[in-house]
Amino acid sequence: MKKVRKAIIPAAGLGTRFLPATKAMAKEMLPIVDKPTIQFIVEEALASGIEDILIVTGKAKRPIEDHFDANIELEQNLKAKGKSDLLALVEETTNVNLHFIRQSHPKGLGHAVLQAKVFVGNEPFVVMLGDDLMYDSTPLTKQLMDHYEDTHASTIAVMEVPHEETNKYGIIAPEEEVKSGLYSVKNFVEKPKPAEAPSNLAIIGRYLLTPEIFSILENQAPGAGGEIQLTDAIDTLNQTQRVFAHQFKGQRFDVGDKFGFLKTSIQYGLTHPEVKDSLKDYIIELGKELEATNEK
Ligand code: G1P
Repeated sequence: MKKVRKAIIPAAGLGTRFLPATKAMAKEMLPIVDKPTIQFIVEEALASGIEDILIVTGKAKRPIEDHFDANIELEQNLKAKGKSDLLALVEETTNVNLHFIRQSHPKGLGHAVLQAKVFVGNEPFVVMLGDDLMYDSTPLTKQLMDHYEDTHASTIAVMEVPHEETNKYGIIAPEEEVKSGLYSVKNFVEKPKPAEAPSNLAIIGRYLLTPEIFSILENQAPGAGGEIQLTDAIDTLNQTQRVFAHQFKGQRFDVGDKFGFLKTSIQYGLTHPEVKDSLKDYIIELGKELEATNEK
């Protein structure tokens, strides 16, 4: 059995939901308190045992490359000032085997993943979407890799979402729970209307895939929204080899929209040693103020 060693992070999206902040800056660099969202994803990959990461980038994405590169001037400056704690934070981001490829004509998530064909070769690999930050005692990517050790099959992370939101996600039609939290799947549908959705189990941005997905993606016709959809290719893959769905029971933060981004910032802030106490006091005070205004 081949080990899962490689991860793909698609990061070529235009980030229109965060305009004007993303006019000249990659949305993946927007910070949650003090850490760019993409760094959380890279950390999850490393904590799961991933060795090589390919980031599929597009326009205005140079800052991502710079972020994970050494910054000699800054490092020397921090060293000279004896700021070893900050130096450690800066150096932490440079010990990663990162690779970059540009997707010049973004045609959808399936098309972004297809750009990684040569990088991946004939190995199983994971795809990690930058809009979904996951928290659990075992990283979600590692949970998928643990299943792979048993099944040697593609496994997609899913989670229950409110039924009226199925049109925002890829949705699975589960077949049978083969072991606790692991389902065989009848089919995968991209963004079905609530009335047509086969369940409320949504794909949440972590995929472990076998390399056979690439030949399917090469012939994949555009689907929902006129884009080449990864979900459609996974549905085809499931017809020739088993693709399982693993139900995630941890916490998911959607940093892809404004409210989700704000909530994530608050949650992370409440665990951040530097700001957690003052943030908590602030929220309590704010709560009292809002309550008083409501009572008036
Ligand atoms: C993508 C996938 C979708 C998945 C979602 C998870 O959609 O196409 O299947 O459920 O990510 O965040 P997007 O959010 O890029 O429209």
